[in-house]
Amino acid sequence: MAGGRDTGPRPLRTRAAALDAADGLRGARALFALDDGVYLDGNSLGALPAHVPARVADIVTRQWGELRIRSWDESGWWTAPERIGDRIAPLVGAAPGQIVVGDSTSVNVFKAVVAAARLRPDRTDIVVDASTFPTDGYIAESAARMTGRRIVPVAPAELSSALGPDTAVVLLNHVDYRTGRLHDLPSLTADVHAAGAVAVWDLCHSAGALPVGLDAHGVDLAVGCTYKYLNGGPGSPAYLYVAERHQAAFDSPLPGWHSHADPFAMDHAYAPADGATRGRVGTPEILSTLALEAALEVWDGVSIDSVRAKSLALTDFFLECVAAYVPGGLDGPDSRLTSTTPVAHAERGSQIALRCAEAPAVMKELVARGVVGDLRRPDVLRFGFTPLYVGFADAERAAATLAEVLAEITPV
Ligand SMILES: Cc1ncc(COP(=O)(O)O)c(C=O)c1O
Repeated sequence: MAGGRDTGPRPLRTRAAALDAADGLRGARALFALDDGVYLDGNSLGALPAHVPARVADIVTRQWGELRIRSWDESGWWTAPERIGDRIAPLVGAAPGQIVVGDSTSVNVFKAVVAAARLRPDRTDIVVDASTFPTDGYIAESAARMTGRRIVPVAPAELSSALGPDTAVVLLNHVDYRTGRLHDLPSLTADVHAAGAVAVWDLCHSAGALPVGLDAHGVDLAVGCTYKYLNGGPGSPAYLYVAERHQAAFDSPLPGWHSHADPFAMDHAYAPADGATRGRVGTPEILSTLALEAALEVWDGVSIDSVRAKSLALTDFFLECVAAYVPGGLDGPDSRLTSTTPVAHAERGSQIALRCAEAPAVMKELVARGVVGDLRRPDVLRFGFTPLYVGFADAERAAATLAEVLAEITPV
């Protein structure tokens, strides 16, 4: 087996060790509860920061068990959605006061798309990324029916020619969940604005992996989850960004009492709170919200630019190892693997997606051998690179194991 993990000289393994030794983020791995496998699925569910279980135990036993109702004030439960939003803000390039945490991404897509459409009452079209993660498409379609608009599916590459005076809202994914393609947020947002429309971005696959620059690029509204690169835990709450300039006009389709200007007035007339708070709905999921807050401590002192630099180096190195180790190489006429992730750094998120006819059997065997990526049916092997806890030796080992597995699985 050419360059296999356990045979012959392995210069790439030597290089991996040198790259790991020079990695300024290498200390962060110790902050996570990980075994000696290779975890390349942080783009689906981030790993557990090791200090979170003790924090959750305290939240349950002391804050809930002993302080009970007093914790809404004394433990900061009431203000957690805004406080944690402000902790996420620097990771996505937002000034404080514009992000509120709560609900799922799907629910926040609904709030954002309807509120965006209400900002453009005279326009008919809601443009949706044709390759979007499905939930965004389903929700946008329902939002369109509810607001009397029309859905226009458009590939991001063709967006500028599809925009016009009827475009009210454009909903885009920053990184494509299947291919790992990074869309050009600054230029697409500028195109949306040139057409007079409102730009809504889904950051699920970019936040925590690369700089987003929400404020710098004039994004209007954005949503994202916290259980991938932000390591908030399964089902941890999502977030909604409402640019400050839109907050006064942000008209939520879910105006629950937690978004009221004075919730305990118990007034029958709705009066929205100021700021990002008007993106709240009802009682937040406190346990997972506070678990997220604890998990975000792993970002203390970490710059998102250093994360991006390592992410690109990791994905480059993984591709190099795959090309060197896998029989038939990568993307060639004899190869069993084709990368659908762009080679250009400017177009690449933090995952590598490889098409492979035998993908289901290959991923099953990889997982059995301690290399955990995931499968997107029918034929995509996804490998997510989370720079806080994935190293170059992991990338080399994953590629070598992939080569071993492919050599054992008969081509279909
Ligand atoms: C791009 C994108 N949007 C939305 C979602 C769905 O989010 P939720 O299940 O939190 O509603 C996901 C989930 O993986 C996603 O990747």
